[in-house]
Parts: sequence; structure tokens; C-alpha cells
Amino acid sequence: MKTENLPCVRVEKRKGEEIRRALKELELLRTDARIISNDNFIYLPLTRELKKDEIGEIDFRELLTREFEVLERRKSIEDLVGFKPSYEMVGDIAVLTAVDLTGENEQLVAHALMNLHKNIKVVAKRVSPVEGVFRKRKMKIIAGENRTETMHKENGCRYKLDLEKVYFNPRLASERNRVVSQVERSRKDEIIDMFAGVGPFSIQIAKRAPQSHVTAIDVNPDAIRYLIENIELNGLRNVEAIEGDIKEIYERFRNKADRIIMNLPKSAYLFLREALCMLDPRGGIIHFYDLESSYSDASDEETKSHEIEIAAINKAKAKLAAKVEEAGDEFHFRSLEIRDARKVKTYAPYAYIIGIDARIIG
Ligand SMILES: C[S@@+](CC[C@H](N)C(=O)[O-])C[C@H]1O[C@@H](n2cnc3c(N)ncnc32)[C@H](O)[C@@H]1O
Repeated sequence: MKTENLPCVRVEKRKGEEIRRALKELELLRTDARIISNDNFIYLPLTRELKKDEIGEIDFRELLTREFEVLERRKSIEDLVGFKPSYEMVGDIAVLTAVDLTGENEQLVAHALMNLHKNIKVVAKRVSPVEGVFRKRKMKIIAGENRTETMHKENGCRYKLDLEKVYFNPRLASERNRVVSQVERSRKDEIIDMFAGVGPFSIQIAKRAPQSHVTAIDVNPDAIRYLIENIELNGLRNVEAIEGDIKEIYERFRNKADRIIMNLPKSAYLFLREALCMLDPRGGIIHFYDLESSYSDASDEETKSHEIEIAAINKAKAKLAAKVEEAGDEFHFRSLEIRDARKVKTYAPYAYIIGIDARIIG
């Protein structure tokens, strides 16, 4: 343990906590040094000498210098590898997301991450884009245990999943939270999650609104297997997992839903007719996701990105409006009210995932 002579203040024990807090708030407390205490006093280490006019409550005679144990600063990943690699955590798996990391560098980063964070048991790397109907990607294990299955915690719920067998994106946690927070806790709604995956929307909604019933559908048998496990894991009885292609089974849910989640950005618009068929004829809410790119000839990057983002949002809105108008007559919907439309994330340069919350009025 390292020690250092530091300016400090000696205070009576009964006043210690109050003064410690005040010093911390003023950023005057050295938080990396161990506070010393004896029967009557505590010694609070300071970041610098105090001036007479800033000591307020403290008796000036109590300012001293003494030796403190100083905790060694925890090394950062940058200290160990010389740069800040990008990665995301899914359960106990660190997934390297930088495309330019190869060979030796990958190993270096992986071992540094595992040394620094004892909760990381596997370091993996993406080796394909998200692809196919199941929206899966291939991974390569770089270090640690040889597995891609893990248990992920998000917004108070637990999800078991395999990164190679199902789609899962931890970066959508706040988007899911945003949608879930719109669900009224006390209502008895019927909610349909058309592209449920391992259930991150369905499970959070079911937990928030225990009197509602959630139908969670996915065509990927592995996603459904994990979803069933996750429903159990989270102790829920109001989620029903159904394996199937929504195009083939949507008729079963005709006129049922008060709220529908369509989290399949690349092709959700191709399923809007099915969604409208499943919606209660009196109306309901659709959370629609869409992938859009656009173009702007603005010369500065900031304006260009902003203009493209706005254009992408407008394209997504227009797609939804056109479909509601087209299928509206068939299902007797009168109009569409867009409550919110926003960029959820960047998919590629000038291509965005857009999220829209819309009320369809019957
Ligand atoms: C982008 S993922 C979203 C999963 C989940 N909502 C989440 O946030 O993790 C889309 C999911 O839709 C499923 N899917 C694709 N086409 C489908 C279809 N026709 N019917 C039912 N599910 C489908 C895929 O298997 C995949 O799990």
C-alpha cells in the first residue's frame, strides 16, 4: 500500500459525516485516500490546502498535514493496450465491435479486458452482419470459455440467450424502456409482439402490466425456446410464446390487439397489413420500426446528418401512412395519429433505424 503526506482536516467524530459530505460536494475530499479515525476524531484527506475563507464551519486550527494510505488507481483498458477498444457487454460476454481489430491486437484486448473485469468470462467478436430471416450473426470466440450462451440483465429482467442462435442487441435497452413506459400498468390490454426474439419487449411489458396479456411470436425456434425459459426465469404467467411465421398465423389474432410491437426494422412495413388485421377495430397503438436511408447535398457534416435524419423519419412516416390508408378500408380504420417518430440508432452511414409510435383510430 502506498502512503502520501496530504493536507487534511481533523473533525470531531459526531460532525465527521456532515463535513465529509460537504467536502466531497465541493470536490475537496481525496477519495482515493483512506480516511483515518480514532476514538474522538476523524481525519479527512483533502485534494489541496484550504484557504482561510473557504473553511466555513471548520476550525482553522484543525487543518493539518499527515500521512494517509493512498489506493492505487485502477488501471484502465487504455493503460493496458494503449487505445480504447469498442465493445459491448451481453451478460458475461464482451463482444468486440471494432472491425479493424485483428490477430495479436484482438488477443491483447481480450486478455486485458478479462484481467480488468472479473465478470467477463468470454470475449467474442462479430464475424458476420446480422442476416437471414432469424436476424442472427456469426461470432468467433477470442478468449475465455468456449460458449456464446449467456444470461443478460436489462431493466430489471433476465434473459438467457445465445448470441449465435438468436438476435439480441443490448444497445436497444433504452428504446425498449421508452416503449414499455407507455404501457399503462393497470389496464387489461392484449399486446402482440410480432417479432419477439427472446422476449425483451414482451417480458418487460408483461412485468409492468400484470393484468395485460402478451402474445410473443417468433419464427426462430431457438428464440422461442429461450423466450419460454425467460418467461419462467422472470416468474411471469401473462406471456404466451408462439413459434411461427406471422404471415401464416396472424388470422388467429384477428381484431385482438390493443397494442402491437413491430421490431423488424428491415421489413416491418411488409407486415403492416397483418398488423392492422390483428388490431382491435376500435383502434390501438402500433410501435413501428423501419430502416431508412436518405441523401443530402449539404456541405458540412452536421447539417448533412441532420437533414438525412429528418428525411429518413419522414420516409418512415410516409410508408406507415400509405399502408394505413391502403389497408384502412379493409379493416375500417379512419385515420392515423403519429405520436412520436425518432431515430433509434444509426445502422450505417446515412441509414437509420426509425421508431414510430402511432395510434390507429377506428
Ligand atoms: C430484429 S429481431 C427483434 C427481436 C426482439 N424484438 C428484440 O428486441 O430483441 C426480429 C425477430 O423477428 C423474427 N422474425 C423474422 N421474420 C418473422 C416472421 N415472418 N414471423 C415471425 N417472426 C419473424 C426473427 O426471428 C427475429 O427474432
